[in-house]
Amino acid sequence: MKLGRLNHIGIATPSIADSIAFYRDVMGATKIHEPFDMEEQGVKVCFVDTPAADGAMNGTQIELIEPLGEASTINGFLAKNPLGGQHHLCFEVPDIAEARTYFEGIGKRILGPTRIGAHGTPIFFVHPKDMGGMLTEIMETPRDNTHWSN
Ligand code: CO
Repeated sequence: MKLGRLNHIGIATPSIADSIAFYRDVMGATKIHEPFDMEEQGVKVCFVDTPAADGAMNGTQIELIEPLGEASTINGFLAKNPLGGQHHLCFEVPDIAEARTYFEGIGKRILGPTRIGAHGTPIFFVHPKDMGGMLTEIMETPRDNTHWSN
């Protein structure tokens, strides 16, 4: 295992619209993508770009996550954290299958199957209790190694 780029930080929010206004007006974000629904996960998602060290807009993203429907897993998080807050970290790896085998091999609990994530690349989540309290998303590096269309 070799730690890859911190692709994004997932932040739960009761209102993506309010969070977009915050990142735009308070934090000065200049690249905010269109929000979109991920019906199967029960979430609405919006990516906010931050620049990399060279100024290119392919630094770590903020992934704003709002519940979509009553059954959304984000509802529980927001019940405990009404203002929202940091929900997960997402690190890139070159090979998702290899990474899954690695985490399973050292006894980390993986939550559900490997699936296609919000960036259209395969991802899985590792249980926060096995990861120092941090829900951790592992994502295969996009082939063009940039940020994407959403
Ligand atoms: Co994520």
